Amino acid sequence: MENISLNLNRALGFISQEAIDSYKADAEKFNVALHEKTMRGNDYLGWVNLPSSITDEHIADVKATAQKLAAKKLDILVVVGIGGSYLGAKAVIDALSNNFQQFQKGDAPCVVFAGQNISEDYLAELRQLLAHKEYGIVVISKSGTTTEPALAFRVLKKDIETKYGKEEAVSRIIAVTDASKGALRQLATEEGYKTFVIPDDVGGRFSVLTPVGLIAIACAGFDITQLIQGAKDMEAQTSPEVKFEDNLAAQYAAVRNELYRNGKKIEILVNYNPKLHYFAEWWKQLYGESEGKEGKGIYPSSVDFSSDLHSMGQYIQEGERTLFETVLSIKNVKNTVLVPTDEANLDSLNFLAGKRVDEVNKMAELGTALAHVDGGVPNMQVEVPEINEYYLGQLIYFFEKACGISGYMLDVNPFDQPGVEAYKKNMFALLEKPGFEAETQKIKEKLK
Ligand code: PA5
Repeated sequence: MENISLNLNRALGFISQEAIDSYKADAEKFNVALHEKTMRGNDYLGWVNLPSSITDEHIADVKATAQKLAAKKLDILVVVGIGGSYLGAKAVIDALSNNFQQFQKGDAPCVVFAGQNISEDYLAELRQLLAHKEYGIVVISKSGTTTEPALAFRVLKKDIETKYGKEEAVSRIIAVTDASKGALRQLATEEGYKTFVIPDDVGGRFSVLTPVGLIAIACAGFDITQLIQGAKDMEAQTSPEVKFEDNLAAQYAAVRNELYRNGKKIEILVNYNPKLHYFAEWWKQLYGESEGKEGKGIYPSSVDFSSDLHSMGQYIQEGERTLFETVLSIKNVKNTVLVPTDEANLDSLNFLAGKRVDEVNKMAELGTALAHVDGGVPNMQVEVPEINEYYLGQLIYFFEKACGISGYMLDVNPFDQPGVEAYKKNMFALLEKPGFEAETQKIKEKLK
């Protein structure tokens, strides 16, 4: 079995091999600390051994729950959640799905999401859609108190109960939440929903391999055993026993920190396959929430090439030289489309006749990397044999482990997110939530 790999060649013109190697001692120390739980954020390190500790019984329970829902012949599964309770499932499902999934008639339901925004139009249009469809709901919230999913679920719960009656509605709802705390746990217990537990020691952005991600991914018809196997193999390949030179996660953490110290403040995760758009969104949450604090941190951004070469390409080539790129480079795609010969050749593309479209995409990828390096943008490639459950599992764990090591290199706590509270406080003050009276008064003064 091949593995994902890391190609640093096009970063080495910007930073030296010696500089990268100087991170060896720290990378190894921080990797050990993640496993032995001896540094900052050590209450949230349940993800480190998660792939190797998932039991067969747990996987069987998730699969059986997905099958039970499938037996209802759902057209749509609505997954309610935000942030870490949304992006992992969305990333994996989009990466594995047909690009035109919503128009396919398959055995598995089409998965749509709610509670990841507060758009009234979004919710209204979702309700209009669901009114004519067979559907079920997976509601996910670790705290059980997050406003966006709580609001969406309050609306959708009423609708599903009205449509199917209370008893049938209960059999169509699964709740994923804390083992004992929070409003969603209480509601699930009172209503009698099937529930899954989010472990206490796994934070939202590291939770895709818990039921937070697994339920929706299994319901969408994908092989969670392979996903977990990929992650498990990457857990072994990035363990503290694997020396720095061979440890992908340690290498990636070292290179991005060295680039950062050399003024490269923005990392762009690049893909050439639109299915990976949300994988980049998941990655941005992982790195943005883990590292962006105490006035520090690489700003994680993303582009979908070649689309964005026709927009952001200009900035990347010639704008401020504070960028570096990490490319998700996919070796094999699933389908074959050959460029046909055209007699008139008005578009002058006959020189490509007989070639695969993917070959053109690959040359766009290579040509872009060379141009960006020439323009002063260091470029790393994460080489992925193909997009499937197994390699997505590898990628997920690789980025998680690298994130932990990298956050410690930056000397922050990679496992908290205190900054997320600021907007909530203002929003509650503006909405005059009971208990926020002082804040309401203060914010009203500010707005005068
Ligand atoms: O990473 C995080 O902790 C956040 O993005 C949370 O996942 C997000 O706020 C959702 O929280 P909860 O699952 O408690 O509703």
